[in-house]
Amino acid sequence: MTEHAPRVMHGIEELRGFLAAERAERRTGTRGGRVVLVPTMGALHAGHLEHVRRARKLGDIVVVSIFVNPLQFGPTEDLDRYPRTLDADVAALREAGAHAVFAPSATEMYPDGETGTRVTGGPVTRLFEGASRPGHFDGMLTVVAKLLVIVAPDVATFGRKDAQQLFLVRRMVRDLNLPVRIEPIEIVREADGLALSSRNRYLSAEERTQALALSGALRAASDAAAGGVTAALEAARGELNARALVELDYFTVVDPGTFLPVGDGYRGEALALVAARVGSTRLIDNATITVAPGEH
Ligand code: PAF
Repeated sequence: MTEHAPRVMHGIEELRGFLAAERAERRTGTRGGRVVLVPTMGALHAGHLEHVRRARKLGDIVVVSIFVNPLQFGPTEDLDRYPRTLDADVAALREAGAHAVFAPSATEMYPDGETGTRVTGGPVTRLFEGASRPGHFDGMLTVVAKLLVIVAPDVATFGRKDAQQLFLVRRMVRDLNLPVRIEPIEIVREADGLALSSRNRYLSAEERTQALALSGALRAASDAAAGGVTAALEAARGELNARALVELDYFTVVDPGTFLPVGDGYRGEALALVAARVGSTRLIDNATITVAPGEH
């Protein structure tokens, strides 16, 4: 834990000034000056705080960005209703040991509105999460690129729960030669397997129980994967179809190197992805599975 509340900054120049001073001071002292960025949209839960604790071990100055990025919300999505809980977030970040919070306004980030330059991420941006949210990933990549340029961190953390986001961010960093290391953070789960998400707060008690079908389907797929991809998919669908309140969007198995679906001939490590609506709440989850390990 840090002794002090994190310094909260809303302006890009203020943040840059703070980081330049911190780096310079630390260069002459015994404390290191490695900066770790934890990008978030706020409404922090235990999963985010775990990122911050991991981030403390990866560097010396932990900056958490809190910005509900309008570019990654579609016209029918809940941008205005997205929870904004800055005071509670800052209090939690003090406990978790963050040094600085960067919480810009939309005007600070996009002074010319939504008409400026965008990052375009290629075909994977239109699959899975991108299929139901057109433009979402380009908006996400654009703000992540901006945050990486503004903060200039040595390391930035991204959760494995948003597997497609993590894949696309890593690809952008490689394609644009951005000088940062992307550190994946493992999925944090409740004791019964439910992956932590800001959206879990919208689940009723019955929906919360039925939502366990997502992690259950991933476990079933993993157990059946020795029999190949089709066997894994069937096992997962059996688990999901048994729940009346769960409306499946997709369950798929992808090659972690390309993020494209694999066929039945695939062997080796793969990523199983699931998205479903539970009541009116859309949830996602994923797990690494080993397909047909004994068959080569
Ligand atoms: O994962 C999120 O919270 C957001 O997509 C991110 C990475 C902070 C960009 O807005």
